[in-house]
Amino acid sequence: MSKCTEVNIIGFLCNWCSYAGADFTGLSRIIYPANIKIIRMPCTGRMDPMLIIEAFHNGADGVLVSGCHPGDCHYTEGNYYWRRRYASLKSLLEFFGIDKRRFHASWVSASEGKKFAEVVKKVVAEVGDWKEDE
Ligand code: FES
Repeated sequence: MSKCTEVNIIGFLCNWCSYAGADFTGLSRIIYPANIKIIRMPCTGRMDPMLIIEAFHNGADGVLVSGCHPGDCHYTEGNYYWRRRYASLKSLLEFFGIDKRRFHASWVSASEGKKFAEVVKKVVAEVGDWKEDE
């Protein structure tokens, strides 16, 4: 059995774009892996790095944070804060031994259902590769 079916991903999605995009994926009947458990956030700017560390600590194989495209944040610049935090946190997690294939970020708008499905497939594949190497 492929390790991809055993991969457990936590997805933190901003309410205004990526969560709506995930919803649109379902409404459009686009199939994507069921490995992701979605948590709706008000904005990626609200993303507390401790939630990500907590997710890994509690057994998540991978974490995806997805929000509005740069310039489209409902709160104007929350995703710019997140983009900076993501770069720092990714280096920090690598320093602590969390493989970089396990932590992902993306921009998905409410109308990009197909893109959301592609992002989830890519994340599941990369986390699955990491799990294969374990
Ligand atoms: Fe979507 Fe800020 S509201 S990233």
